[in-house]
Amino acid sequence: MNQATEKSPQETETQSRKLVMPDQINADGRLFGGQMMAWIDKIAAMTAQRHSNSQVVTASIDSLAFLAPVSLGDHVILRGRLVYVGRSSMEIRVDVWKENPILGERAKCTRAFLTFVAIDKNGKSLAVPRLKLETEEEHNDFESARIRLELRKNLAATLE
Ligand SMILES: CC(C)(COP(=O)(O)OP(=O)(O)OC[C@H]1O[C@@H](n2cnc3c(N)ncnc32)[C@H](O)[C@@H]1OP(=O)(O)O)[C@@H](O)C(=O)NCCC(=O)NCCS
Repeated sequence: MNQATEKSPQETETQSRKLVMPDQINADGRLFGGQMMAWIDKIAAMTAQRHSNSQVVTASIDSLAFLAPVSLGDHVILRGRLVYVGRSSMEIRVDVWKENPILGERAKCTRAFLTFVAIDKNGKSLAVPRLKLETEEEHNDFESARIRLELRKNLAATLE
């Protein structure tokens, strides 16, 4: 049951830290892209669950950009943040940094936008709280997400 009528992105921002282990790298010594995608999907799902207080499903993943390679032993820091909410859909921006724990150096390595939909126990979409926009950046992010939504709909029409 969704109790709040609106929530700010800050209230549900979610972070996680991982350690890159030997079974997560490819022959070149870089982190598998698929492992990164799984971590991104999970952090975004948790962010969406915290906003909606319901079960959620991944509806789409857009603009997944691998900006820099991640190496064995690096720490990976993921942050999920709500940027857009429709009736039942929620767009989450995930930013990811890699950190070399020995040198203490940190760099942005991945960015993605994912849309989740809140569902009830029958898998039917469920209305979620509105997004309470408090800062100019949040208003800009919301507007950018609205434009992405239109682009996604136009693209989907060409893929049918
Ligand atoms: C996502 C899903 C619940 C939507 O079902 P639906 O019958 O289209 O539901 P509705 O028509 O009520 O639409 C619900 C919302 O989903 C959004 N939506 C539907 N398909 C979407 C897509 N591919 N990308 C982004 N948003 C989507 C709609 O725009 C709508 O948003 P709104 O309520 O904010 O306006 C359904 O397609 C589904 O279950 N998909 C499989 C999800 C899954 O298994 N994910 C795991 C990945 S393997």
